[in-house]
Amino acid sequence: MYSRSRIARGLVSRHTPIAQCALKTTSTACTTRTAVIGASVPLWTPHRATIHTSHNRPANPVAPKPMHPDPRENPMVGIAPDKNVNVAQRRMADFNLSGRVFVVTGGGRGLGLSLAEGLAEAGGYVYCLDRDNKVDRRWEEAARRATEWGGQLRYRQQDVQDAAGMDRTIAAIADAHQRLDGLVAAAGVQQITPALEYRQEDAARMLDINYTGVLMAATAAARQMNKHKCRGSMCFIASMSGSVANKGLLSPVYNSSKAAVIQLARNLAMEWSPINKKDGTGGIRVNCISPGHIVTPMVEKNFEEVPGLRDLWESENMMGRLAEPHEFKGACLYLLSNASSFMTGNNMVIDGGHTSW
Ligand SMILES: NC(=O)c1ccc[n+]([C@@H]2O[C@H](COP(=O)([O-])OP(=O)(O)OC[C@H]3O[C@@H](n4cnc5c(N)ncnc54)[C@H](O)[C@@H]3O)[C@@H](O)[C@H]2O)c1
Repeated sequence: MYSRSRIARGLVSRHTPIAQCALKTTSTACTTRTAVIGASVPLWTPHRATIHTSHNRPANPVAPKPMHPDPRENPMVGIAPDKNVNVAQRRMADFNLSGRVFVVTGGGRGLGLSLAEGLAEAGGYVYCLDRDNKVDRRWEEAARRATEWGGQLRYRQQDVQDAAGMDRTIAAIADAHQRLDGLVAAAGVQQITPALEYRQEDAARMLDINYTGVLMAATAAARQMNKHKCRGSMCFIASMSGSVANKGLLSPVYNSSKAAVIQLARNLAMEWSPINKKDGTGGIRVNCISPGHIVTPMVEKNFEEVPGLRDLWESENMMGRLAEPHEFKGACLYLLSNASSFMTGNNMVIDGGHTSW
């Protein structure tokens, strides 16, 4: 420990953790310690990491860095974040998804595939659920890239309109890994039709996929998170069209299905975010991303159907361009990682300023 005189001279504080003190005393000690720590600390395993508090911290000079914040001093312990998560032992550890398991509906292509790839890039084990019975070249390339970063992409054919089947698929994934940490609900369809021409069956189909499909995916995932006591996180892909009547886009049912998804996220967050202190269930955060226009297969079809639509959309946001799917990876990673541990029931609008003027 440090002598009273050193503390009195302000060289070290009574409360300064060991690693910080080493840093202030000799740089050699810090380097040596860091090197040994880097070699000895395994990949981040949130549920198995040893917690070192000032009570049980070993005297061994190569002990891991202290937790930040120290769980004894953190009034939120037992509520959030998980006290087994040893933040600050790795660079930006809040974003590390190693050892975690995720499901992405609509992960076969477009935005869903990009978001799935982002989670795998951060080390996650990601299952893409989509209705097609096989994957295309872009999915295969993304799966190959994912392994370079230590993550994995897997594919399961699953239509979100088959709620019972989706429940079984998500249960099988969670049981195989004994955990489920997150869901991205990105499966969605679009139909450009003026309101007066909308047929009842088309409206029902749209809502069944875009709204009920999200609800059923979320409940299937929440059942598994509760079963395995995982304090998971969900990200629903809504749209800026859920908050505004989108100029140049005559799709009244699509737009209102996205408004319903935003409202669903608030309600599920209210039900599932608190932790049930009796049985340890809950602690599930639910948020939305509302993207602006992104160039995906869905939107390319819109451009074929409506001449001049691309020019109109590009002129409607502050950046004068449309988005690429990969521009949403960071936001999704934020929502599904510890980085957003105090965020729930909310909607991130990422639209190049489209709805801000
Ligand atoms: N592209 C945009 O400009 C934009 C903007 C805002 C929101 N979104 C939303 O992002 C999400 C992804 O859209 P995208 O642009 O990548 O479209 P996309 O058509 O390229 O991808 C949608 C994916 O969902 C899958 N899917 C559709 N119905 C399904 C079902 N019943 N079961 C399982 N999978 C199903 C499709 O097979 C496809 O792989 C959608 O929810 C969409 O509404 C897109």
